[in-house]
Amino acid sequence: LARGYHEKVISHYEKPRNVGSLPKNAPDVGTGLVGAPACGDVMKLQIRVDDNGIISDVKFKTFGCGSAIASSSYMTERVKGLSLEDAEKIKNTEIAKELCLPPVKLHCSMLAEDAIRSAIRDYRTKRSQLSNPKKSGFIDVTQSSTTGETVATAHPPT
Ligand code: FES
Repeated sequence: LARGYHEKVISHYEKPRNVGSLPKNAPDVGTGLVGAPACGDVMKLQIRVDDNGIISDVKFKTFGCGSAIASSSYMTERVKGLSLEDAEKIKNTEIAKELCLPPVKLHCSMLAEDAIRSAIRDYRTKRSQLSNPKKSGFIDVTQSSTTGETVATAHPPT
């Protein structure tokens, strides 16, 4: 890290909080995977949501610069214990301000904002699919005992 970074950035960069992964396929986990077009850096952020819609656990991984690591580390601490509605209101400008990021590093904090939104979206999509599973039809194939012909009967979703 270059000199001149705020000590909060250094602290999160040197000791990032909540690094790791949650089981992607768990029904209570939402995964956000986003990239920053400006630099090609990538961030993965996952949330676990309890029955009351509160974020109970957060983990992240990033192939990103020091500011991206600091922003995501800060974001994980910030959203733990929040409702999804409150978590999705967090703006990158808040992170940038808190960590005193210079203007050229604003997009790094944007990555953290995008990642939490994307994780929330993923969680909600998963929940709505679970509570509303797509019904699939099936096709019965039988052989007629009289003619020996194969008969296919389609059963549409009910
Ligand atoms: Fe790309 Fe920081 S330089 S995320």
